[in-house]
Amino acid sequence: MTTSRPQIILDCDPGHDDAVAIVVASHTCDILGITTVAGNAPLDRTTYNARVLRHMLNLDVEVHSGAGRPLVVPPVFAGYVHGESGLDGADLPEPTRAVDGTDAVGFIIDTVRAHPGCHLVVTGPMTNIALALRSHPDLGNDLAGISFMGGGTFGNRTPMAEFNLWADPHAAQIVVNSGLPLTMAGLDVTHQFQATPPRIERVREIDGQLAAVLSGLFDFFSANYSSRHDDMEGAAVHDPLAVLALTHPDLFTTESRFVDVVTDGEHTRGMTVIDRRTLIDRPAATCTVLVGIDADAAWDVTISAIRAGSANR
Ligand code: BDR
Ligand code: CA
Repeated sequence: MTTSRPQIILDCDPGHDDAVAIVVASHTCDILGITTVAGNAPLDRTTYNARVLRHMLNLDVEVHSGAGRPLVVPPVFAGYVHGESGLDGADLPEPTRAVDGTDAVGFIIDTVRAHPGCHLVVTGPMTNIALALRSHPDLGNDLAGISFMGGGTFGNRTPMAEFNLWADPHAAQIVVNSGLPLTMAGLDVTHQFQATPPRIERVREIDGQLAAVLSGLFDFFSANYSSRHDDMEGAAVHDPLAVLALTHPDLFTTESRFVDVVTDGEHTRGMTVIDRRTLIDRPAATCTVLVGIDADAAWDVTISAIRAGSANR
């Protein structure tokens, strides 16, 4: 299997699946920093949760908080999926290290400048990234690309809109139209990667604090999904796929597509428009869209990451 160890900034809103993304990234990437955004929960809580993950992983990376609300639309959180804490389902340890800064946008700009060729991995609303690109339009010169979780040919917040892009559609439109190399882990692929009961059992069998906490988080997350859907065996573990797309590209099948984001409409706000036409004069592709995954192999990588992280503390 082809693997690489990219340098990344992980911009997230933990969130159960963001937590898994942090764990997977800690094992497979050089994390240059973790930045947080309001999304699944208010900013103070997503930032706290990122610190909890850093603590459990004994990870020496900076955590910077960023945007507390979307660019234009009012903030709406996802307590109905992740609980009011953003990480309901487990007793979380108290993190000992404080947040390193409250200017995630400035941190992203400085860190990208200092590490040309790094990637942004975005697993929450895209507010911080849009603000960085808007204030420094040439930032992309130093970026290898942006891998994000969001979008898809169907929605979860509305029939057509996935939560991250719905939560800040104006930010998403800026990022998706940035001209930078994009990789999109949308719902089409993330719904193929479910935390089924046998997969959660494999987490529970691992010794250590991290695995114990994660198995509680998976139980909560999957019970929530199973109770709210009539076709799912467990939660869709969306966010780590934006990491694995960079580190383990062989796990995926992809298509190159032109993608845009709609910013308004009751049903269409935050919807991705993915041009799948075969017309010869269709717009040039702007995005690598993940469409299929070897879910068992991806879970194996996730288990390896949890095992490694559980041995850290
Ligand atoms: C996305 O929204 C959040 O609930 C998850 O963390 C994921 O990033 C899925 O729509
Ligand atoms: Ca997320």
